[in-house]
Amino acid sequence: MSKVVIKSENLTKVFDNNTRALNGINLTISKGEWVTIMGPSGSGKTTLLNILGGLDKPSNGTVFVDGKDITKLNSRLLTKYRRENIGFIFQQFHLVPYLNAVENVMLAQYFHSIALEQDAEEVLERVGLKERLTHLPTQMSGGEQQRVAVARAIANEPEILLADEPTGNLDQTNGKVVLDLLESLHKEGHTIVMITHDINIAKRSQRIIKLIDGKIYSDKSTRVKSKNPDKKILKNISKKIGG
Ligand SMILES: Nc1ncnc2c1ncn2[C@@H]1O[C@H](COP(=O)(O)OP(=O)(O)OP(=O)(O)O)[C@@H](O)[C@H]1O
Ligand SMILES: [Mg+2]
Repeated sequence: MSKVVIKSENLTKVFDNNTRALNGINLTISKGEWVTIMGPSGSGKTTLLNILGGLDKPSNGTVFVDGKDITKLNSRLLTKYRRENIGFIFQQFHLVPYLNAVENVMLAQYFHSIALEQDAEEVLERVGLKERLTHLPTQMSGGEQQRVAVARAIANEPEILLADEPTGNLDQTNGKVVLDLLESLHKEGHTIVMITHDINIAKRSQRIIKLIDGKIYSDKSTRVKSKNPDKKILKNISKKIGG
């Protein structure tokens, strides 16, 4: 059995206006898994991701990350938790407009930690932006801005990457670049939880969890299980080809 990284139990979120965004989510995610969350608008996807990443607290229930209940952490410890474990990639890149690419990456994770300039440059090189180090967000394409955001998310080498519609604002070509990056991070062993509305993007991951009305509606592997070929059919084919 692979190691459990995230485990939520009976997670509920009711907002101040009485909106029940999450309604009893039980979820286990193993180390190195790439999981997609799908579901209609308003079904609770972003709320779930924010709670898993320690950006928001549930009304009830627990979230264990590496065996530790993060819902019990105070804000200082939550900040530490995010800095050490989590990389966020948002749909709207969330870059600081008056900082260039390197500075945006240095300002990793919500201003809570500052990366070294050299590290920031290295990670930008990794996402293919070596030539854009001193560009401001307005001087970059949408795809480039999202790659800066990916660089920022992975600058602290987080175990867990949370991505909320990371390709939602990108054309197909740029979307592919970002997905390829996620795939290589997955291969390196990062655990990825990604939200998308696009089934073709979801199929790049290993598992699709569908939320409806704050509940898990389905939870399926995207890999087709290989069945043993029917021996009779095989024999027939073999006969036909003279084997
Ligand atoms: N801060 C908030 N205060 C009150 N209600 C909220 C708040 N944030 C989200 N909601 C409500 O909670 C529900 C779930 O919202 P959430 O953002 O998680 O949906 P989603 O599945 O991410 O939708 P989308 O696909 O449109 O991004 C919605 O009904 C939304 O209106
Ligand atoms: Mg959302």
